[in-house]
Amino acid sequence: MMKVTINKDDCIGCGICVTQCPDGYELNEEMKAVVKNPNAPGVKEAAEACPVNAILTEGESEPMAPVTKEEACEAKPSICDYSGVMIFAEQRGGELKKVSLELLGRGRGLADDLGVPLYAALLGHNVEGLAAAIIAGGADKVYLIDDPLLEKYNTSCYAKAMCNLINFEKPEIVLYGATHIGRDLAPRIAKRLNTGLTADCTELSIEAETKMLLQTRPAFGGNIMATIMCPDNRPQMSTVRPGIMKLLEPDASRKGEVVKFEVKLSDADVMTRIIEIIKERKQVANLEDAKIIVSGGRGVGSADGFKIIKALADVLNAEVGGSRVAVEKGWISKDHQVGQTGKSVRPNLYIACGISGSIQHRAGMQNSGCIVAINKDPSAQIFTVADIGLVGDLFDVIPALIEELKAAGIGA
Ligand code: F3S
Repeated sequence: MMKVTINKDDCIGCGICVTQCPDGYELNEEMKAVVKNPNAPGVKEAAEACPVNAILTEGESEPMAPVTKEEACEAKPSICDYSGVMIFAEQRGGELKKVSLELLGRGRGLADDLGVPLYAALLGHNVEGLAAAIIAGGADKVYLIDDPLLEKYNTSCYAKAMCNLINFEKPEIVLYGATHIGRDLAPRIAKRLNTGLTADCTELSIEAETKMLLQTRPAFGGNIMATIMCPDNRPQMSTVRPGIMKLLEPDASRKGEVVKFEVKLSDADVMTRIIEIIKERKQVANLEDAKIIVSGGRGVGSADGFKIIKALADVLNAEVGGSRVAVEKGWISKDHQVGQTGKSVRPNLYIACGISGSIQHRAGMQNSGCIVAINKDPSAQIFTVADIGLVGDLFDVIPALIEELKAAGIGA
């Protein structure tokens, strides 16, 4: 027997418990959770998912019955028609975007876990030359859709071409980069194929028991990480944040197939026409590709304080980053922001100066090769992910560091 108590004062009415266990909980008129059936399977797991710990349970509930691939197929036979993993190999102007290689790396792992092939969809005009890099990056088969109407990205033609290809190959998983193009394209495809889409994933894996895709992404302003499944429809689709997934070492000896896939496109398919592309001249921070990043947070204190961060970055030939607080206070521009609401980065060296290390900030930089944290507060959260921690005032530590680096012949 389970005993379930909900602290109404704590409940924020987010509905997570209800979504996770609709037989166990419901929301009342005041938008507060109430217990429907304390013995429903999954009551305890749903209580654990409450972001404010408003639900107390005593005893053990029936675990939720896993839906195996076979059970899902039995309930909906069309699910079993789908097999394989596909990535959208995004290119612009004939250059493969780095996120496409990241998707290949993660897609390869997922395909190997499932024992299925990894496909890449390459759309554009005269881009066949990119296929070798895509195969070296991990793909077994590259579907090339070449058409002058695909030379520049346009939503309607790309969506039509991708839908045709997905309906032909029937992959069980399709991954896109969470770039401007991926965020525009993937929802159109999801709607046309009547399937789900999890946006902005930071982690992907295969559940051992069900063989379904576990799609993890930040939710509720980054306060919790939600893992989402798409049990009833195929393909399972995700957009993936650039800079998060690990690149595979390219292997030029890998063998793969290039298959030309025909899609009939005409001017009638073009809903919007691009007349001209004007590239913004503004120099924006290129944090995603940086090898070294020096970042400042609340402890920097002012826009003027960022001069010292910039000075250290100059010595190390590094990019300058900032925490959300630093950006919101106007000390540094938004394109420098690192974290869940900014950019996810993976440099070889990340130096966090005066950054407390909120979960949102850590989620965007904790995959860096080496993390050095400088902070006055020895209990700052940033030290939990730091390889080297320096407890001290950044305005004392950084000048000393610059001096030492210059004495060692670095940036002198
Ligand atoms: Fe949300 Fe249910 Fe907790 S509604 S706040 S998960 S009790």
